[in-house]
Amino acid sequence: MLQSFRVVGVAVLFLLLINACNNQATETKESTATPAPSEEDKLKEGERLVATLDCEICHSPKRMGPKGPEVIPELRFGGHQAGSPLPPYDEATLKAGWVLFAPDFTSMIGPWGQSYTANISSDSTGIGMWTEDQFKKVLREGKYKGMDNTRPILPPMPWEAYKHLTDEEISKVFAFLKSTKPVKNVVPAAKINPPPPPPAK
Ligand code: HEC
Repeated sequence: MLQSFRVVGVAVLFLLLINACNNQATETKESTATPAPSEEDKLKEGERLVATLDCEICHSPKRMGPKGPEVIPELRFGGHQAGSPLPPYDEATLKAGWVLFAPDFTSMIGPWGQSYTANISSDSTGIGMWTEDQFKKVLREGKYKGMDNTRPILPPMPWEAYKHLTDEEISKVFAFLKSTKPVKNVVPAAKINPPPPPPAK
């Protein structure tokens, strides 16, 4: 009697073991069979990243609304608009050490000079003709136009924060920006101040 209980016990254990192995096998099969994200998912993720990293606060022109600056939908990601007027400012304020932001945050003046936010829409005057490597070089190395022999990107473009994005995330951001409505606009050239003289000894 005892003997047959043992036999049944061993058989049950054996069956449980086989079952566990089978489950594992199906799980592995399922995880390797996960489909690659679709183009649509990639663009959605890119859009979410662009919203979270707030590229628009600087790169989209805005008009003043009752609650403050509002993005102008047809100019989204178009950068500082060529020829758009900027309010006058007091040189003394700058000399006193203030940094100035245009009301729509598309131009800034500080010790570096005056920068204008780039056109990052899909137009050829934006990033429409760019490669992903160029785009990555801006975000990782702070190189203007994403090329090796160009000047460093000026403030306040926060590339030193964005360099922590993964290759995959940069790829999604780029794909999304390439899918945006083209905005034709050649942004004015930045005014770059000469570096300050070295401190007197
Ligand atoms: C705080 C403002 C600010 C934010 C936020 C910002 N940028 Fe910029 N960005 C700038 C400015 C200003 C420039 C122009 C700098 C220059 O002329 O060197 C610039 C330049 C760039 C350039 C280089 C264009 C060129 O022609 O070389 C790219 C690409 C870019 N930004 C992408 C982005 C993306 C993508 C985001 C969001 C993930 C972003 N920026 C967020 C201010 C900003």
